[in-house]
Amino acid sequence: MPTFQTVRGMRDLLAEEAEAMTFVMDKARETAQLYGYREVITPVIEPYELLSAKSGEEIRQRMFTFKDLGNRTVALRPEFTSSVARLVTTSLKNEPKPLRTFSVGSVYRYDEPQRGRYREFYQSDFELIGTSNPEADAEIILLTDRLMRAVGLRNYAFKLGHVGVIRGILTQENVDEKTQNAILQRMDKKEFEEAFKLVESEECLSTLRGSLELKSDDVFKTVERIKSHVEGYCKAAESAEDLKNILRLVTEGGCPVQTVEPTFARGLEYYTGMIFEVYIPELDIALGGGGRYDKLIELFGGEPTPATGVAHGLDRIVLAMQTQKTTPTTERKKRVAVVPINEALKGEALRISQMLRNAGISAELEVMGRKMNKALEDADRRKMDYAVIVGERELKQSAVVVRDLAKREQAVVEIAKLSKTIIG
Ligand code: HAM
Repeated sequence: MPTFQTVRGMRDLLAEEAEAMTFVMDKARETAQLYGYREVITPVIEPYELLSAKSGEEIRQRMFTFKDLGNRTVALRPEFTSSVARLVTTSLKNEPKPLRTFSVGSVYRYDEPQRGRYREFYQSDFELIGTSNPEADAEIILLTDRLMRAVGLRNYAFKLGHVGVIRGILTQENVDEKTQNAILQRMDKKEFEEAFKLVESEECLSTLRGSLELKSDDVFKTVERIKSHVEGYCKAAESAEDLKNILRLVTEGGCPVQTVEPTFARGLEYYTGMIFEVYIPELDIALGGGGRYDKLIELFGGEPTPATGVAHGLDRIVLAMQTQKTTPTTERKKRVAVVPINEALKGEALRISQMLRNAGISAELEVMGRKMNKALEDADRRKMDYAVIVGERELKQSAVVVRDLAKREQAVVEIAKLSKTIIG
């Protein structure tokens, strides 16, 4: 047999990488608890039709789609939002609103692998369902702000927009939804000239072209400019007002927004309102993104239900932490190697290991049957904090030898005081 490699775009997360990923997941879960988002665990495989309905051309083409043995067309989830929308139309149908859900896990997209872009990656996903009020959108941005801070990131910046502005202009100009989607897809890729080619009306074209010029350093000024630019396009103007209200709430919540972009668009097709992404200056890839999607649940056969949400790219957050040299701030458990001096003391060593674990200390029992100096060398190499050496002589006095591996010092410690001595 050949030696096997991972499939292209898939990665093994080992030791520190796995620890960093769990650290970020823990922080996401903590954020969910602080904001009252209840966790839901949904399947990795879903009906293709559900996942593709409003994901947009880009993601649709990159889905891992296949027929299962029952001849059903299924796919690996490229995101969580459509699964949550499915829940809202089924099991969670009668839940009182607002409904706040949290999910975390792997998602799959056949993207071109590069730094920060993988085919299997991890997201934490927050959805706030049942209200179209701006405070809901503000909450989604603020909880993202909290997560960024909780993992220790600095100088991150939010970019905000509102698809209602462009859609409002296009709808009033009788551009059908399919063309609107195609235009927004191109805008998402910053292919503005390509996007404009799909617009027939001269007036509409000049309004769209004009939107490219509205950005200023002051976000509130940008929103005011958008508002006056789309005067006469009533839905677009309402959207600009909505964006202003969200911006005000987010700022009041203590999270400064750095950019408002009138022509900002996102790949997913289900957005109907505010959209946003978060970045750090050192990386030009979004660490998270989301927005409002008021029509998706209805499309899946539910009651008309407004909703807003976000997904954070956990692999990218880990990458951002490495880039900014942010060290996880959780207290690391003390790690101890427990080594019996001879075969006969295995049971005693096992009992002591259990006692240490009960006290919250990570204890690794010597299971390879190695001699003392080999076992200590190994504990050193693994950067363990202590070795607990279980020997007959000390046991007679209900004690063991505790070796501080960093300081290279050792002392005899009573077993009754062992945990306390190690914890310090
Ligand atoms: P999204 O922008 O497609 O939104 O993905 C969210 C985040 O996932 C991105 O900002 C990025 O950090 C990360 N991400 C995307 N593709 C990759 C990749 N190939 N490799 C690594 N990380 C990646 C959504 O998924 C929506 N469901 C967000 C949402 C929730 N909107 C409303 N509710």
